[in-house]
Amino acid sequence: MKILPIDPDRPEKGPLEAAARLLREGGIVAFPTETVYGLGGNALDPAVVHKIFAAKGRPSFNPLIAHVVDSDAAAALSAEWPEQAQRLAERFWPGPLTMVVPKTPTVPDVVTAGLSTVAIRVPRHPVAQALLKLLPFPLAAPSANRYTQLSPTHGRHVVKGLAGRIDLVLDAGPTPVGIESTVVDLSGHAPVLLRPGSITAGEIEDVLGVATGAPRSFDGEEARPAPGNVRRHYSPQARVVLARPEELAERVASLSGAGGSIGVIGIDEIAPSDADRIIVLGSAPAEFARGLYSALHELDELGVAAIVVQAPPEDPAWNAVRDRLSRAADDSATPG
Ligand code: TXA
Ligand code: MG
Repeated sequence: MKILPIDPDRPEKGPLEAAARLLREGGIVAFPTETVYGLGGNALDPAVVHKIFAAKGRPSFNPLIAHVVDSDAAAALSAEWPEQAQRLAERFWPGPLTMVVPKTPTVPDVVTAGLSTVAIRVPRHPVAQALLKLLPFPLAAPSANRYTQLSPTHGRHVVKGLAGRIDLVLDAGPTPVGIESTVVDLSGHAPVLLRPGSITAGEIEDVLGVATGAPRSFDGEEARPAPGNVRRHYSPQARVVLARPEELAERVASLSGAGGSIGVIGIDEIAPSDADRIIVLGSAPAEFARGLYSALHELDELGVAAIVVQAPPEDPAWNAVRDRLSRAADDSATPG
């Protein structure tokens, strides 16, 4: 496996062309997007898509996002490009929004896990944009991590998780958004928010002028509506515990008493005396989201026994962060 550094703002030709060549030959390549690193391959070639599932150890019922260069390329993968999709594309693309729409037969079943819909996104990271421009096909790309593990927000996180399992990593350093894209399903009667992200339900509703619904539960008919939404997901190795500010010091003390070192991720400046490492991410949701996975990766690398995270406020602006934290903290359920 090769690791090629690349400038996040002005990506150089050399690494881009090396990546494009590998992808044209049917290889799989990790590349930065503004959210997290993706593990990309030719979305129109089922054999390549199988390689992506195998490298991640991901079950095949969990569909992938097709990354395309612009909304025309998105519409070309859609059997019927909804008017709502066009409006959201004009407002949020390129950017961290994924839209689920009816698919054309050119999208192989392995990409969509047999669903009649396909998830599509136009990423805005300059490296992702430049790479897609060099390719005559869309890139199927899940997050570039082993199944159920933490998403990578830096090239070195990809190397840690997937070394030896993929052909190339384009390493552009940290990703600016830090959590996965918002996923909205536009294939039904009303838009459904399948995964919260930095683009909020409120922002989507402002553009569409209608309310977004919550995902319906598994009905046994098709694959699950948001098949990636297994409870335990986005998980570091250490146990993750959420604590309200007023109970944080006490949780840290009692976990520390049980043995092992303790890491803390805070919103505000906090100083529980028994913590071995404290990372303060700040009180703005976007700033916290940008640093979250990186902080979890760092604490995992330190080998802490538990990570105590200051629970974010109930405000909707924190929905995406709260979603990822509750999945990371959930140790009762196993992956579906
Ligand atoms: O920010 C992101 O979205 C990153 C970067 C690399 O673009 N990608 C990412 O991919 O997070 P992944 O595979 O880890 O998550 C894709 C999500 C999953 O929850 C999956 O179930 C959902 O999108 N999804 C994909 N196709 C779908 C479909 N046809 N219907 C419903 N959900 C779908
Ligand atoms: Mg993922």
